Amino acid sequence: MSAHHQTKLPHGKMPELRVMPMPADANVHGDVFGGWIMAQVDIAGSLPAVRRANGRVATIAVNSFLFKQPVFVGDLLSFYAEVVKVGNTSITVNVEVYAERNRLQSETVKVTEATLTYVATDENRKPRPIPPLPATVNEAVMKA
Ligand SMILES: CC(C)(COP(=O)(O)OP(=O)(O)OC[C@H]1O[C@@H](n2cnc3c(N)ncnc32)[C@H](O)[C@@H]1OP(=O)(O)O)[C@@H](O)C(=O)NCCC(=O)NCCS
Repeated sequence: MSAHHQTKLPHGKMPELRVMPMPADANVHGDVFGGWIMAQVDIAGSLPAVRRANGRVATIAVNSFLFKQPVFVGDLLSFYAEVVKVGNTSITVNVEVYAERNRLQSETVKVTEATLTYVATDENRKPRPIPPLPATVNEAVMKA
């Protein structure tokens, strides 16, 4: 691995999800199956979307997905997710995934980046408007 790929976990941010892939999550070549990573990314991205929607959401689109580096069985994966856009009924979230490999040697690699859109849904699974942010949050955003 070149020094170019060496990185650190994002400073001051909390991952939505941390998980270690197991041998059952590997593809026929022994590396981690992309579909397994996509499922974890979908889960991680849905967490801030559910908080912002204050209720259930459904994934409507995977806008982009980049598997920049392979993921290996035993890597410790951290999923960072951030809301980047809020529409009438939709919430778009960016998800970045970092792998800590050979953890005793502090090797950290950014492996995946994706953008997904979720729609807030009601009890009939139909789109519902995203609720406004609480006043205190609005005030904080306006002061920033
Ligand atoms: C999610 C669902 C209820 C939305 O209903 P719909 O009638 O298709 O929704 P609409 O066409 O009104 O679009 C809803 C929002 O999604 C957005 N959207 C639609 N297609 C999109 C696309 N390809 N990419 C990004 N956003 C999209 C719309 O712009 C709209 O956002 P806005 O209200 O913020 O402007 C419906 O599509 C559905 O049930 N899909 C299946 C969900 C699912 O099973 N996901 C996998 C498991 S969770």
